[in-house]
Amino acid sequence: MISAAESPWVVLKFGGTSVSTAANWHNIVRVLRARLGDGLRPVVVHSAISGITDRLESLLAKAMEGQHEPVYQQIVERHRELARELRIAPGADLERHLNDLQQIAAGVALVGEVSERVRARVMATGELMATVLGAQFLRSQGLEVTWVDARTVLKSEARRGARTSVLSATCNFEPDPELQRRFSAPGHVLLTQGFIASDEDGNTVLLGRGGSDTSGAYFAAKLQARRLEIWTDVPGMFSANPRSTPTARLLKALHYDEAQEIASSGAKVLHPRCILPVRQYGIALHVYATQMPELEGTVITSAPGDSAAQVKAIAVRKGITLISLDSPGMWHQVGFLADAFQVFKDHGLSVDLISTSETNVTVSLDPAANTLDGAAIAGLVSDLSRLCRVQVIGPCASLSLVGRNIRGILHRLGDAFELFEEQKIHLVSQAANDLNFTFVIDEDQGDRLARQLHDLLIRATARDKVMGPTWEQLFSPARRSADAPPPWWHSRRSQLLDLAGRNGAAYAYDRGTIQKRVDGLAAMKSIDRRFYAIKANPHADVLRTVVERGVGLECVSQGELEHVLALFPDLPRERILFTPNFAPRSEYAFALERDLQVTLDNLHPLREWAELWRGRELFVRIDTGHGRGHHDHVRTAGLHSKFGVPLSELDELGRLARELSVRIVGLHAHAGSGVFNVHNWVETATQLAGIARRFRDVRVLDIGGGLGVPERPAQPGVDLAALDSALLEVREKNPGLELWIEPGRYLVAEAGALVAQVTQLKGKGEVQYVGIATGMNSLIRPALYGSHHEIVNLTRLDEPATETFSVVGPICESGDQLGVDRLLPPTREGDVVLIANAGAYGHAMSSHYNLRAPAKEFML
Ligand code: LLP
Repeated sequence: MISAAESPWVVLKFGGTSVSTAANWHNIVRVLRARLGDGLRPVVVHSAISGITDRLESLLAKAMEGQHEPVYQQIVERHRELARELRIAPGADLERHLNDLQQIAAGVALVGEVSERVRARVMATGELMATVLGAQFLRSQGLEVTWVDARTVLKSEARRGARTSVLSATCNFEPDPELQRRFSAPGHVLLTQGFIASDEDGNTVLLGRGGSDTSGAYFAAKLQARRLEIWTDVPGMFSANPRSTPTARLLKALHYDEAQEIASSGAKVLHPRCILPVRQYGIALHVYATQMPELEGTVITSAPGDSAAQVKAIAVRKGITLISLDSPGMWHQVGFLADAFQVFKDHGLSVDLISTSETNVTVSLDPAANTLDGAAIAGLVSDLSRLCRVQVIGPCASLSLVGRNIRGILHRLGDAFELFEEQKIHLVSQAANDLNFTFVIDEDQGDRLARQLHDLLIRATARDKVMGPTWEQLFSPARRSADAPPPWWHSRRSQLLDLAGRNGAAYAYDRGTIQKRVDGLAAMKSIDRRFYAIKANPHADVLRTVVERGVGLECVSQGELEHVLALFPDLPRERILFTPNFAPRSEYAFALERDLQVTLDNLHPLREWAELWRGRELFVRIDTGHGRGHHDHVRTAGLHSKFGVPLSELDELGRLARELSVRIVGLHAHAGSGVFNVHNWVETATQLAGIARRFRDVRVLDIGGGLGVPERPAQPGVDLAALDSALLEVREKNPGLELWIEPGRYLVAEAGALVAQVTQLKGKGEVQYVGIATGMNSLIRPALYGSHHEIVNLTRLDEPATETFSVVGPICESGDQLGVDRLLPPTREGDVVLIANAGAYGHAMSSHYNLRAPAKEFML
């Protein structure tokens, strides 16, 4: 047998996105030339063009109703389009597959049903067609290519006596001398399909969604290849999901175990099933990105070169449902678990995590392994209820710390546990294989906690054999997507440089950006009135800009009210809201004397200062019980928040209102700040509408502010269109109720930038510091919330950002850091640094700490 190290074969698997553009195909040619140049025999395994597998599914669904022609045409067109892009003629082979597809679809339409075998044949066409085009393109580039039908190589095996699964088959992957002979010609490329195989009778079977990775692994094992290369759209495995944690680090070296664990814990880079075949024969598995073939990627072997216990990744899985089984009688009872698990088995549900106590067993059901609709859960619960008390908890997220010998680091997790202080942990599980430690928490907290745990446990470690660069660092040159317009400060550069030059540090606001945001909200049909929460930025010109466009003002203190009344003495009173929290009695009196709309968020004022309210119209702020937001400090609902009248006091509220002849005309709720999920406001509106039925005078639901603004260029913002249509539905169901909103940040955050001159530089160990003229006295958000603000060297905006710096201010606290590990061009004293998205809660929260005046403000 040939040992892996001398094997002439290298198997390269390319995923759907890798084979869908001409640019990627040119990269593939380069990689293949390099492998051939190394004297290797490349075996390419590739997937269908991206999106085609889904379309084939829908072709079948539509065919059952005889409506498949449009989908069929889309499939045809997508392949022809790629052929045009690749400058090749589609050719007879492609036409043949397309013809087959059309005939099968017509057959399905005729009989009105699809067998598994027919489904497998249809789905396989995606890979067959894509590889036909792939082979043709490689030939057009001068490579010698043999196209191989994977079904002649990969044979499915029956599982434990059961029939071969047609749609999710497994194959034999023992070394295959016959295949090695067949693939032995040097100097050319073998090209075949992922995802497909055949059974003992030669019928097409599939390896399940994501099965192309597994195909690659089977080929590698059968050929005893030197390595398996998985080419995908990310350059390797990362220490967290980079889309939600951009400080995620590239994991350069992993053990098979760890890769398997990360893949199974929710990362989508590799299909977990592909690891076993390569692991069994010690074949190294490399992960690379097709669009950036020069990046180093991840290498997975049995000897990743480190043995120290270390958390390598934080993995999040969402959509988890917990089933909690309570039975006091369980204690010492023989067979309870067997009975309970039999019920899961009877319902065909696979259990993932388990934790037990004397009287409770809690298990998790993973949506990846189970079809979990309401009916499935209800059936399960009803059967389990015969054995014990059952509670369904969800939706939850599981958060796993992954790494070898994870027990060895538990003592270092002390600080990490503090992050869970405010958070209910439903279940904790430490894997028997010592590779993961998992917490199950509420789903909406998953990404945030993952980010915080990552910062604590992983981000800080220096680069070593395992931890590579961060996602941000890898993608910084391309960070701003090409079609997104550059932020306003690009075109105001000289003005901003000048401002910083004259003032040392300055806040600059762009009126046009505020206007654009106001107009965006104005376009929402579901909203009757908009108020600006002036706490975000009460600068007079900012207020003028929003007031001119018809927006009202929401104030939270007498100070804010006096400021607004002085600036706009003639502003109609109904355009001002007063929503204080724990304010002294005198402030309410001040507002009432001026006929302003007051929102109460506690019953104390009604109980104790009855005379103030008699006969008035009031808004009441309700604690809906669900706090949301970018940080604990800004989640303003729920048991641990000081805001709002709890639902348990609504009866008393009704009674007090009747006694005082107070009419409750508006209900208000603000769940928190920096929220992106539109569900937040829809839920608030729905909940308030429900409560409104108890108070006959309510005509307004104020659903608060809190609309998030992306911290990073690649992060998506709040989907206003989706929010609008969801709120329109709520309105339709609740006619007669107006919807108001009161955002602060959304209107002003992006319109503001803090510019400051560089004062000093310092290098200390691995860390380089850039000192600037102002710090947490001007912008406290990074220190207070760990917020991220983009930082650029405005003086050298066009130079490549190649060095990593921490950007710090002059304040005497270690927390005075505006950004950690930021990529900037080589930076000098006197350069001007710009800190973006500082228009909200920037100057408004500034101080004179250390007797350093905060940066002055300028409306441009
Ligand atoms: N309405 C009420 C009742 C509020 O308490 C707030 C903000 C808003 C509206 C406006 O929320 P926005 O749309 O700006 O998210 N300093 C923190 C934000 C604190 C928000 C406090 N309340 C930060 O810098 O992130």
